[in-house]
Amino acid sequence: MPEQNSFPPEVDHTRPNPARIYDYGLGGHHNFAADRDQFEKLLEVDPDARLVVSANRAFLRRAVRYCLRQGITQFLDLGSGIPTVGNVHEAAHQLNPRARVVYVDNEPIAVAHTRRLLRENENAEIVQADLRDPDAILGAPETQRLLDLSKPVGLMMVAVLHWVPSADVAGLLSRYREVLAPGSYLAISHLTSEHLPEQMGEVEDVFAETTEPVVYRPRSEAVKLFEGFELVPPGVVYTSQWQSEPYEMVEPPERTKIWAAVGRKL
Ligand SMILES: C[S@@+](CC[C@H](N)C(=O)[O-])C[C@H]1O[C@@H](n2cnc3c(N)ncnc32)[C@H](O)[C@@H]1O
Repeated sequence: MPEQNSFPPEVDHTRPNPARIYDYGLGGHHNFAADRDQFEKLLEVDPDARLVVSANRAFLRRAVRYCLRQGITQFLDLGSGIPTVGNVHEAAHQLNPRARVVYVDNEPIAVAHTRRLLRENENAEIVQADLRDPDAILGAPETQRLLDLSKPVGLMMVAVLHWVPSADVAGLLSRYREVLAPGSYLAISHLTSEHLPEQMGEVEDVFAETTEPVVYRPRSEAVKLFEGFELVPPGVVYTSQWQSEPYEMVEPPERTKIWAAVGRKL
């Protein structure tokens, strides 16, 4: 747990926050009692909540490895979260220690821990920013130093767009798309209520008590987020179905509650 005197003063540790709830769900230690209590409430309405977060993190790692195999050597990870087990730079540096990663998050605890973790790492940095401000992110000194936007990038928006209200998303994605070089990859995962509306209604009520209420999107809307990109196989599927090993399969797949896909910029 973050020590009481070590977290940034703007953090209200009495209000549960999705970054820290997710960290607790993954078995991390950068969370407060309010976050742990909220995850326990999630477990009451969705006993698969731990599976949901671990299947999402496993998708993130597979997507990073996929991008590396396609020759991607630089990543922009929007909504990167608290650096619990197996995030982008760890997955990337296993295959290519010189891969460069810019993390972005607007949650001060996530940013503080990521900075600490990356102190000695020349190839990865974090920018504290809201992903709805692409100009701030693209113009940040860390982005300018680490990423060469004239070359393909792996843009990760994994388990983050469901905190962004509907009206913003299409315009936002087109702004990022226009700066990406052809051959770049976009990875998205997104909570949905499509197959389990009743249960996900209860999950929504739990998130309504946090700092960031959740927005669900059906598969048809998830597909639209990839306008200008060619989806790579198997398209938009549940996280556990995306290029997974047999041992990663979940039955039925909708238990993972999150759509996932990767597209290549045309
Ligand atoms: C559920 S975590 C996902 C972490 C990581 N991408 C993963 O999938 O393992 C979502 C993260 O997005 C961040 N986030 C939410 N809204 C954001 C926004 N508007 N701008 C930047 N980060 C945001 C949260 O602070 C949190 O750390």
